[in-house]
Amino acid sequence: MAFQHVCNTDDLWEGEMAVFQVNGREVLVIHLEGGEVRAIPPSCPHQEQPLVDGELDGQVLTCKAHRWRFDLMSGMGINPENTLLALFPVRVDGDEVYVDLGND
Ligand code: FES
Repeated sequence: MAFQHVCNTDDLWEGEMAVFQVNGREVLVIHLEGGEVRAIPPSCPHQEQPLVDGELDGQVLTCKAHRWRFDLMSGMGINPENTLLALFPVRVDGDEVYVDLGND
């Protein structure tokens, strides 16, 4: 699948995140402090709880359910370390944000 429009940067202030629909699939878009944008699946890889309910602290996202922590720059787990968030490719063109959710 190619890049698809998901939102505008005006929809999310830096430090905010929200779930959007792209072609019937949900994606969690995170506008990091400093301007980077990340797009990830909406559910935690631990027990599928909604990550949008978690806490964002800089580039670290903490799941509300059991406090798993993830580095949004790499997708790597911080605690525990042996986990990984899928980071979808993101393209920002002006204030338009596009994501590529792949084929699944
Ligand atoms: S569901 Fe996210 S840490 Fe358990």
